[in-house]
Amino acid sequence: EGSKLWGGRFVGDTDPVMEKFNASIAYDQRMWDADIRGSKAYVKALEKAKLVTADEMNQILQGLDQISDEWSKGVFVVKPGDEDIHTANERRLKELIDAPAGKLHTGRSRNDQVVTDMRLWLRDAISTLTNNSLQLISTMVERAAAEIDVLCPGYTHMQRAQPIRWSHWILSHAVALSRDVDQLQEIKKRVNVLPLGSGAIAGTPFDIDRELLRKELGFDDISLNSMDATGQRDFVVEFLFWASLCLTHLSKMAEDLMLYSTKEFSFVTLSDAYSTGSSLMPQKKNADSLELIRSKAGRVFGRCAGFMMTLKGLPSSYNKDLQEDKEAMFDCYDTVHAVLQVTTGVMSTLKINQSVMEAALSPDMLATDLAYYLVRKGVPFREAHGISGKAVFTAESRNIALNQLTVEDLSAVNPQFESDVSSVWDYRSSVEQYTAPGGTAKSSVAAQVEHMRTWLKKL
Ligand code: ARG
Repeated sequence: EGSKLWGGRFVGDTDPVMEKFNASIAYDQRMWDADIRGSKAYVKALEKAKLVTADEMNQILQGLDQISDEWSKGVFVVKPGDEDIHTANERRLKELIDAPAGKLHTGRSRNDQVVTDMRLWLRDAISTLTNNSLQLISTMVERAAAEIDVLCPGYTHMQRAQPIRWSHWILSHAVALSRDVDQLQEIKKRVNVLPLGSGAIAGTPFDIDRELLRKELGFDDISLNSMDATGQRDFVVEFLFWASLCLTHLSKMAEDLMLYSTKEFSFVTLSDAYSTGSSLMPQKKNADSLELIRSKAGRVFGRCAGFMMTLKGLPSSYNKDLQEDKEAMFDCYDTVHAVLQVTTGVMSTLKINQSVMEAALSPDMLATDLAYYLVRKGVPFREAHGISGKAVFTAESRNIALNQLTVEDLSAVNPQFESDVSSVWDYRSSVEQYTAPGGTAKSSVAAQVEHMRTWLKKL
């Protein structure tokens, strides 16, 4: 079929099922802007290489601007033969300016074009996701600052461990997200490398100034090897992995919050704005936002694993398998974009029930402090641990709380316990011992808040 970009050597028509199977226009049209920006830069390089005249270049630039206008107004008409966004834009350019349109693709291949478009698109997407992440982190950090005096039980193995500041819990998640943001900036550097000028595989035989292309399109660097540039999608894989890890972090936070929002815990109350009801049970208020946040890590990692499988064993250079990169990339972007916004909403509207959190603290959570009391009197920790464990056993076997053991009871366990042991049974002074950087004392948590505020300002 002669109307196809590559139709010259073909005689018969493409099977309509194959036509649909082959086409990526349904999803790659979201890169229309990147595709046009890439072409505008490319025609400037063509003009410099004297492959088009200044007049032809201007016609092409104007035509591309008009196409851009059509896309942004939502009036661009995709036609049946438009295989992908590159084909569609070039077809439209020919309709608009006729002859000079045929020169635009000189020395270019869709192999270097598509990967240029993807890098341009992902670069912008990364900026958006960075902003979304920063919004969430700053919401969390300011919450941590405002609620710094609230205590709650800290859990390991989901068993009651030690008293902590509620803000310490919030910051534990904010810190993980800040690593995600840092990693995303690293990935952005590797995304921001220009492949254009690589042609289909061998490079370009014309005087295409790749440095000019780099500057025009705002890339940091140009790709070193044309076969690698057109045949690799490492930057997509890195992004998919990033999305997987980021959503794994958020799934952990969502799971904590889901537990804390149960009637049994009642530490937090999720806003109605992020909850849904039951069609059968009138009393229900379900934490659907949190469940969906938790679920999306699975979806996104599935995309990452799926695309890795597509890449495994591919031969060198461009193969059509690589077209699978786009749905994975778009879906992961859309998913993370939505999750970050919903999580920001959840975290800015969440109510905490301070009295319930603090009432949930129990003296057994101070057994470590009881051992530290002895350590401060010179008892080796391993021994102190054993002695405190005995005290726990004694209290449990008498069915009383650890702090209900009298000084006499305790000194029967070990003579080093004296009347000042009563100072151990205070949750606030317990957390205040943890002043080393990273700990849960007020000064340390406040320092974490400050560190995060400074980090937020740097980005
Ligand atoms: N739609 C294609 C893709 O997304 C563009 C590149 C096609 N290249 C080719 N040699 N058929 O990968």
